[in-house]
Amino acid sequence: MSKSIAIDGPAGAGKSTIAKIVAKKLEFIYVDTGAMYRAMALYMLKNNISAQDATGISATCESADITIKYENGEQVVYLNGENVNGMIRTEEVGNMASASSVNGDVRRKLVELQQKLAAETSVVMDGRDIGTVVLPNADLKVFLTASSKVRAERRYKELVAKGETCDINKIEADIIDRDHRDMTREISPLKQADDAILLDSSDMGIEEVADKIIELYNSKA
Ligand code: DC
Repeated sequence: MSKSIAIDGPAGAGKSTIAKIVAKKLEFIYVDTGAMYRAMALYMLKNNISAQDATGISATCESADITIKYENGEQVVYLNGENVNGMIRTEEVGNMASASSVNGDVRRKLVELQQKLAAETSVVMDGRDIGTVVLPNADLKVFLTASSKVRAERRYKELVAKGETCDINKIEADIIDRDHRDMTREISPLKQADDAILLDSSDMGIEEVADKIIELYNSKA
């Protein structure tokens, strides 16, 4: 039977980096659900659908064929047959993903795909609603968080390393806004599942958090 670890939490808590390490060590597949919401958002942008047009988003998402493949150990997202991995990490797509992921039709479609993947193979899946909605029977649920200050510092360092100039106070304000939107939306808000274990990565290193998750998983297995 396939096994599953659900990792939820706000943007910038280190979910994807940590989930990748855990998946590699346990020989599970890492499923990045945010990338699926981003691919759907890219499709909306390509079709000139505005973030405010709920009817248009519902109608358009029906014709989006999103599939996931694994190439050289990396998750590759295909949108209507095209590899879109190189197009989904922009601010524009991220903002549209945040807006279109509140739509019930978008969520139904992507949750179905996520559940199908987890039924076929053992997964470490990260997102916002994995422990609460997608995999309510996951073998381990982790809610990974970090203070907004630490998350802003991490993002600031990433941007500076890319040669971009930015204002750390603005980054922290954006993070607080996005947390608020993710936690207060009507459908599947970001929330710790009752049976999830809370880990705060503010003062922990990446490997330390990954080792902790593996230890928790092994203690339950
Ligand atoms: O984790 P990320 O930044 O790549 O996610 C992009 C957006 O998708 C984010 O604003 C929230 C949304 N999302 C979601 O609603 N549910 C998920 N399981 C994953 C992401």
